[in-house]
Amino acid sequence: MTVTIVGSQLGDEGKGGIVDLYGDDADVVARYQGGDNAGHTVVHEGEEYKLSLVPSGAIRGKVGVLGNGCVVNPRTLFDELDTLQERGLDPDVRVAERAHVILPYHRVLDGIEEEVKSESGDEVGTTGRGIGPTYEDKAGRRGVRVGDLLDPDVLRERLEYVVPQKRALAEDVYGLDVSDLEDPDAFDVDALYEEFREVGRRFEAEDMTVNAGAFLTGAMADGQNVMFEGAQGTIIDIDHGNYPYVTSSNPTAGGAAVGTGVSPGVVGGGEVIGIVKGYLTRVGSGPLPTELGGVVGDTPDYDEQGEGEDEDLAHYIREEGGEYGTVTGRPRRVGWLDMPMLRHATRVSGFTGLAINHLDVLAGLDEVKVGHTYTLDGEERESMPATTEQWARCEATLRTFDGWEEFDPAATAEAGYEALPENAKAYVEYVESELDTPAYAIGVGPGRGETIVRERPF
Ligand code: IMP
Repeated sequence: MTVTIVGSQLGDEGKGGIVDLYGDDADVVARYQGGDNAGHTVVHEGEEYKLSLVPSGAIRGKVGVLGNGCVVNPRTLFDELDTLQERGLDPDVRVAERAHVILPYHRVLDGIEEEVKSESGDEVGTTGRGIGPTYEDKAGRRGVRVGDLLDPDVLRERLEYVVPQKRALAEDVYGLDVSDLEDPDAFDVDALYEEFREVGRRFEAEDMTVNAGAFLTGAMADGQNVMFEGAQGTIIDIDHGNYPYVTSSNPTAGGAAVGTGVSPGVVGGGEVIGIVKGYLTRVGSGPLPTELGGVVGDTPDYDEQGEGEDEDLAHYIREEGGEYGTVTGRPRRVGWLDMPMLRHATRVSGFTGLAINHLDVLAGLDEVKVGHTYTLDGEERESMPATTEQWARCEATLRTFDGWEEFDPAATAEAGYEALPENAKAYVEYVESELDTPAYAIGVGPGRGETIVRERPF
């Protein structure tokens, strides 16, 4: 049995909490895309852990797998593992031999490219973790894979081919003085070889590398439950998101098959749960038709989007929801729930269930709005258009719901769905009916016991 967890919006929908909740019944939790651009906070036995790469299930004694669709920064991986070990845990994390390695030059190039784009206001607002440049090298057939770190000759050969190209790009195209970098060895073949060969030795010594598809298939054959944990969200999917304001991988459900090495039938034969935040947030650039409040902090606004309308409300929701990036600390842009976006996400991933989070954050507002449809060039649309330029021209037609009063999250979660305020239930039922998908879980607070569980997918 498999359960796939997919972000249905722009990331930060509260996937971690749901992975945590349903992951209790999983034996293996596998990430299928992304790298240390994701951020999740896990509270376990009263201790708080902040992770960006290690699957959160690994803290709770599950086997964590970083699938072949992930990009792995070994520095981050070992920092996180060492910290967990220092705090008394013994996480079991396996890494796909086919996963690509984020090397120090990828981070440098991510930074320079964003800087260059920012001169014309075209920056993506990346997390600066080298994600895009690493996937670029994967597609360009010049990447270094985890399996390559285990073989000294292959590793040297790969680095000798690619590093001079990267150095030339940095120096000749971008005019960078690489000796002046914070990490002066980022473009040095010998130094990279030494560091990453050592990583390979550690992977070997700790028996961490696997053929992910074979490993997961073996686990399922032994009757184990597997959870596929997506990072980021549908609208920053490289194919189905708002290109170019996207991450460089596929957070949608198809990515779970490609990014782990099991068949699409395995993923589609299980449950696919779309995680929905009761409103919207976005870090980084790009349109947001239901945006409230416009530009915040250093977050670049999208040129054609104009200022949002309600700064105070955006500020209120941002503070109530703690809407600041886990990885970067950046304030998130805020908007109302966007149904055309969710209809698109539901079609792409085939959600069998939903988890609707953060209803507590909206409690106490007089009214709550949703973008029900869009108008584009005089036509009403139920789903998102395919190009970002068209999306930026969409005007949301808002529907207004009566707000709901504040409630006690833990007591409501304990008492169950019927204990939710009537107006909050009307909101949930609207979403279920529009997406023709039942809400399996409703998040009413950040704590572990603060989710109303209506269905357990495993
Ligand atoms: P990258 O993944 O660092 O290349 O960033 C590309 C885009 O995806 C930027 O707009 C980021 O802000 C966004 N992004 C990446 N990871 C996350 C995440 O975990 N949550 C929300 N947005 C993200």
